[in-house]
Parts: sequence; C-alpha cells; structure tokens
Amino acid sequence: MTYLANPERYSSIMQYRRCGRSGLKLPAVSLGLWQNFGDVDVLENFRATLRLAFDHGVTHFDLANNYGPPPGTAETNFGRILKEDFRAYRDELIISTKAGYTMWDGPYGDWGSKKYLVSSLDQSLRRMKLDYVDIFYHHRPDPETPLEETMAALDLIVRQGKALYVGISNYQPAEAAQAIKLLGELGTHCLIHQPKYSMFERWVEDGLLDLLEAEGVGCIPFSPLAQGLLTDKYLHGIPADSRAGRGGPSLKEDQLTPERLTQISRLHQLAQERNQSLAQMALAWVLKDPRVTSVLIGASRPAQLQDSLQCLQSPEFSAEQLSTIEEILG
Ligand SMILES: NC(=O)c1ccc[n+]([C@@H]2O[C@H](COP(=O)([O-])OP(=O)(O)OC[C@H]3O[C@@H](n4cnc5c(N)ncnc54)[C@H](OP(=O)(O)O)[C@@H]3O)[C@@H](O)[C@H]2O)c1
Repeated sequence: MTYLANPERYSSIMQYRRCGRSGLKLPAVSLGLWQNFGDVDVLENFRATLRLAFDHGVTHFDLANNYGPPPGTAETNFGRILKEDFRAYRDELIISTKAGYTMWDGPYGDWGSKKYLVSSLDQSLRRMKLDYVDIFYHHRPDPETPLEETMAALDLIVRQGKALYVGISNYQPAEAAQAIKLLGELGTHCLIHQPKYSMFERWVEDGLLDLLEAEGVGCIPFSPLAQGLLTDKYLHGIPADSRAGRGGPSLKEDQLTPERLTQISRLHQLAQERNQSLAQMALAWVLKDPRVTSVLIGASRPAQLQDSLQCLQSPEFSAEQLSTIEEILG
C-alpha cells in the first residue's frame, strides 16, 4: 500500500538540535541500519520500522558501505524502500553513509585512501539510487594513510556534490583535532563526529566532547544502548532472538558478566522508579549533555523504536539520581 507520512510527524514527540556550528539540525533520536536491515533480515519488518521512525519525526538514517549482512545490502534495501516509500520525502531526510572498514578485496577496499573513499561513495550512491548523501564519514582513522589525503578526499567529495557535509567516526581527541583543522584549512567544516558512547562506554568524556564543542562540531553517539545491554532484555537470561542470542560477532554472551548484570538490574530498578524503561533512561542520560546532537540507536523491530522514542518525554534527572547512576557505574 502506498505510504503516506503522518502529517503530525513534526509536532508529536521529536526535538531537533543544531549540529555544531552549522545550518543543519538533526532529530534528537536518529536511526542506524548497521544490523537488522541486511538481506538476512525481513524486508517488511524494517520497512515498518523506517515508516514508524519517519512518522515520529526521525529524519536521519545512518548507513555505511559495509552494513548488512552481507556488506552493502543495508544500502541496497534502504534504496529500495526509499524509492517505494520515501521518494516524495527525499528533501526531508538526512541520509548518511561511511567508508573506512573492509569492503572489497585488494588494497583499495579498506582504510582511508582517496582511491577507496571516492570509489566507495560512488558504489554507495549506486546501491541507494541517490545522487548525493547528506553526510559522508570517514569510518575509522587509518594509521598509514596521511591524514592530509583522507581529509582532502572528504573535501573533494563535498566539492563534487556527492555529499553535502562530512564527518569523522571513531577518531580519538588528538587525531580528531588534527582532522578538523585540516578540513577547515581546505575550506570544508567538519560537521560531526560519530563516537561510541553510552553509560557503559564513556571515553568521550575525557576530552572529545570539549574539543567538539570548542570547534563547533556536532556529536552523534552510536550504540547508546550498548547494543541492547542497557535495556530490560537480558535481565532474565539471553533470549534467542536477541543480538547476544543470535551469536553474531558484535555482542558476545561473555559480555554479560555477573557484574554487568548487577549494574543492569540496578539501573533497571532506578528507571522503574522514574516510571520509564531502562532503554529510555539510558538514552535520556546521553541526551542530557547539550554537546550531544542526537543519539544513534538501532532497533530490530518497530516496538523497540516506539519504546526508545519515549526517552524524549523523560523526566529530568535529580542530582541524587545522577549520583546513584555514578555509583552503579563505578
Ligand atoms: N561508526 C561506527 O563505527 C558505528 C559502530 C556501530 C554502530 N554504529 C551506528 O549506530 C547505530 C546503532 O548502533 P547499535 O545498533 O549498536 O545501537 P543500540 O541502540 O545501542 O542497540 C540497538 C539494539 O538494542 C536492542 N534494542 C534497541 N532498543 C531496544 C528497546 N527499546 N528495548 C529492548 N531492546 C532494544 C536491539 O537489539 P536486539 O537485536 O537484541 O533486539 C537493537 O538492535 C548503528 O545502526 C549504526 O548506524 C556506528
């Protein structure tokens, strides 16, 4: 059936935050297609998830060349749904993709050379059937390619009109500072940084967030639910249909140590006292920092997204609750 977007999508729940010193605003909650959108997944499930997202004002969808599995299929499937459902809404969408991890055989399908980044983006555009993406990222720092070359490739891509904005991901503070400077010298502002950040992984608090604020660069933390650990799903064992239960490479059962489970259970209890789910509390906790532009979540089904979106109606954290969280996280 033809999809017609919810006419109330901009007035229901979503808030929009300015992305650093730029003209662009992002939804406070963005949806990533790393897992659950590949050929191994069910097209109608992720079509429903994407529709639900946009109907609630989620205007930003995050991809990468290697998302699937198999690699590339998340972009192909997203391109199909874009064409079938979202064609009329392209100008209301922020679509991002990346290159930086292994994508094809040989010396030109990985890391950070100009050769890799430019040809990978061309492939991504073909898979998604797009003329341009809104944001293109270098996915991870490359210890061998000169940073000057990688940043020149990002600048070139903007000048070619294949991406409107560029960003970096997984860069530590010192290398991020250098990348932002190099891009600025070329005349292209670094729009955004995409680091891993959640209650369970807090390295960005040691300098990165300060740097991004000072440089006017937005921040979109990925895996803010620690891949599902910061939800109620693992409280009573490992469900077969969960990321840990499916046995994929990114979340292993052995990450659910007894200490971790105690933390999860205490955080769950605190969330209940705040009349919300643990997922909602974990997302609200990341979003309470004004330096965070958007949280980049995943969802394996529409109901999870529905639950997570309610983080936007979260009560404020009291000083006592914040210190309880610090004590739990140790
Ligand atoms: N730049 C990078 O290097 C990088 C790396 C990783 C991710 N990312 C980006 O970040 C996005 C999000 O990463 P992520 O998927 O790890 O994020 P996440 O939000 O931390 O975890 C998402 C997973 O948690 C579970 N979940 C989500 N909401 C839930 C809820 N309300 N209740 C119960 N369970 C819930 C689902 O797992 P189940 O399958 O168990 O249901 C879901 O797939 C990716 O899609 C990608 O765009 C970027």
